[in-house]
Amino acid sequence: MHTIAVIGAGKIGELVLSGLLRSGWPAEKLLVTARRPERARELTERYGIRVVDNLAAVSEADVLAVAVKPQDAGVLLDEIGTKVPTDKLVVSLCAGLPTSFFALRLPEGTPVVRVMTNTPAVVDEAMTAISAGPHATGAHLAIVEEMFTPLGATIRVPESQQDAVTALSGSGPAYFYLLVEAMIDAGILLGLPRQVAHELIVQTAIGSAVMLRDSGEHPVKLREQVTSPAGTTISAIRELENHGVRAALLAALEAARDRAREIASQSS
Ligand SMILES: NC(=O)c1ccc[n+]([C@@H]2O[C@H](COP(=O)([O-])OP(=O)(O)OC[C@H]3O[C@@H](n4cnc5c(N)ncnc54)[C@H](OP(=O)(O)O)[C@@H]3O)[C@@H](O)[C@H]2O)c1
Repeated sequence: MHTIAVIGAGKIGELVLSGLLRSGWPAEKLLVTARRPERARELTERYGIRVVDNLAAVSEADVLAVAVKPQDAGVLLDEIGTKVPTDKLVVSLCAGLPTSFFALRLPEGTPVVRVMTNTPAVVDEAMTAISAGPHATGAHLAIVEEMFTPLGATIRVPESQQDAVTALSGSGPAYFYLLVEAMIDAGILLGLPRQVAHELIVQTAIGSAVMLRDSGEHPVKLREQVTSPAGTTISAIRELENHGVRAALLAALEAARDRAREIASQSS
């Protein structure tokens, strides 16, 4: 079993760390680094794992999971880049940053894998997309799958698709939360108490998601089952189409993809 260091344990780093612990990864095989002493104390108290400095993580761990913000990755690699032995596996969780960003700052031959996960990792329902970067073999991808499978589903994609993945599933939970928030407001507009509207729509979201996952049916087919001729649903759908909801989603995801590219260009 490999020793994994989470470098920069903020929101996503902590999700990975807690998921690994829940899956039974031994605490003594995990290390974490933090920039602020109070954050380091918090992580030690919460998880009982060792907080070390970045250079100790590099020398002690086999896998370095980099979970700093993309704009902090340059400074981090200025500190550790040249010190990383080529037998370590570097796993980037940074949105937008291409593996070439790491390869340029690491010794030639260091394997790099790029990962885009999402916040439902907290309930072991993450969607994690994994791409091989320079020098990463099938065995390296398998190690990363072993790390992320306990947190939810994993998929291998070519790195050229990662900005689209970031826009779709990386940011995806936010779109669903926005939709649910708006539907709760709609329930209130129709006279329902807030708590009732919340309960109705959250369970409807869960039920619909489970059906989408488990039935294997296309969403159009599932929607047609709820859309009877001259019924209530089609009246609502006409309004959604009138208001350009589909076009809004296409434009929104394109904007997220473009922003991922912009962040990468600002970081390099
Ligand atoms: N949030 C999401 O939903 C999501 C989804 C997919 C991917 N991601 C990616 O995951 C990465 C982390 O995002 P996040 O939301 O978890 O950000 P975050 O909460 O700000 O976490 C980043 C952590 O890294 C620490 N850090 C920065 N530089 C460091 C250094 N040189 N050494 C040690 N620690 C350092 C920060 O310390 P301080 O506390 O001092 O700032 C912070 O705790 C990003 O690259 C993001 O693109 C995020």
